[in-house]
Amino acid sequence: MKHLMEIEDNHTVDLYSKRGIMITRGENARVWDADGKEYIDCVAGHGVANIGHCNPAVVKAVQEQSAKLITCPASFYNDARAGLIKKLIEITPENLTRVFLCNSGTEAIEAAIKFARLSSGKKEFITALRGFHGRTMGALSATHNPKYKKEFEPLIPGFHHVPFNKFEKLEEKANQNTAAVILEVVQGEGGVYTGDKKYFERVQDLCRKQDILLIIDEVQTGFGRTGKLFAIDHFGLQPDMLCLAKGMAGGLPVGAVICGEDIKLGKAKHGTTFGGTPLISAAASAAIQFMIDGKLAEQAEKKGRYFMENFNSQAIDKVREVRQIGLMIGIELKEKVQPYLMQLLREGVLALPAGNTVLRLLPPLTISYEEIDTVIQKLHHVLL
Ligand SMILES: Cc1ncc(COP(=O)(O)O)c(C=O)c1O
Repeated sequence: MKHLMEIEDNHTVDLYSKRGIMITRGENARVWDADGKEYIDCVAGHGVANIGHCNPAVVKAVQEQSAKLITCPASFYNDARAGLIKKLIEITPENLTRVFLCNSGTEAIEAAIKFARLSSGKKEFITALRGFHGRTMGALSATHNPKYKKEFEPLIPGFHHVPFNKFEKLEEKANQNTAAVILEVVQGEGGVYTGDKKYFERVQDLCRKQDILLIIDEVQTGFGRTGKLFAIDHFGLQPDMLCLAKGMAGGLPVGAVICGEDIKLGKAKHGTTFGGTPLISAAASAAIQFMIDGKLAEQAEKKGRYFMENFNSQAIDKVREVRQIGLMIGIELKEKVQPYLMQLLREGVLALPAGNTVLRLLPPLTISYEEIDTVIQKLHHVLL
């Protein structure tokens, strides 16, 4: 397998730090490397494999749909796509009635930015410090971390970043030029910080009063991750646009913006070749049905609570704080996280960072309680 690793090392563009193992197989919350070593996967494709790796319902849907029709542009009707659109409308707040399908989180944000400009005729946006919304030029403008942005400036003008969860700071920035506010409910890449109910309610209220669109980025929090099907469901929010991606299609590339009736667009103002293909639509419909039938959001809530009850962070000197909502868990360390990620990997647990000091766990929501026990035991082993 060494020669295959060398192909990636020598012939892919130099963007990713590798962790030194080649993953060749996955099933539910576990993956295996080329040597057959088993890992509990709390990376899950960066919070993608919510319903587990190679979920049989998705495998079946892909097999069946790929033998029937794989691609079909949005200028033709398609049964699999219509089925997915119906599902998305049914599971999102009732004010959201129109769907744009694309291929990734950043594309969903990119579309939402264009839709907001087009629909409002305004050009400015308010987003949050520590917010992450993707890496294409529009989404990157909404993202906060200067580390991702500096070399790519000038970005799209008119993006104002204000402290997260501080309503007055956001209110100060809002004016007649503000097209939209773009927020995560739980900042994921930013370190697993959840905003307050009151904060979001006041933001939503302000947006309504001042004719500002509210765009909620649930690329990472959507599809059960936080213990509700969507994180907005914790607070009863009704944004004008809801951006989705990661966990939506069982691991296949997908993104969506679910819009309210007030979002006025126009023929050919935006588009995509691959968005909403029958293959991805069938996979996403199967994945969503699996989440609903298996009550995965509820499971995430219970399993997240179980983790917190058993992790006992107070006993670990290296831990500053644990922030958790559902199965979105950020363990903030008093030191750099990278060496601990490598130690965990050697112990058979894959985890990811959020910034320099936060150890983030985004396991499949289907992870078993026994697997959670093992993750806790391994965390104790490397951190104590
Ligand atoms: C909240 C949020 N928005 C947008 C994105 C970008 O998604 P993608 O990597 O699919 O482009 C991410 C990715 O981590 C994210 O966490």
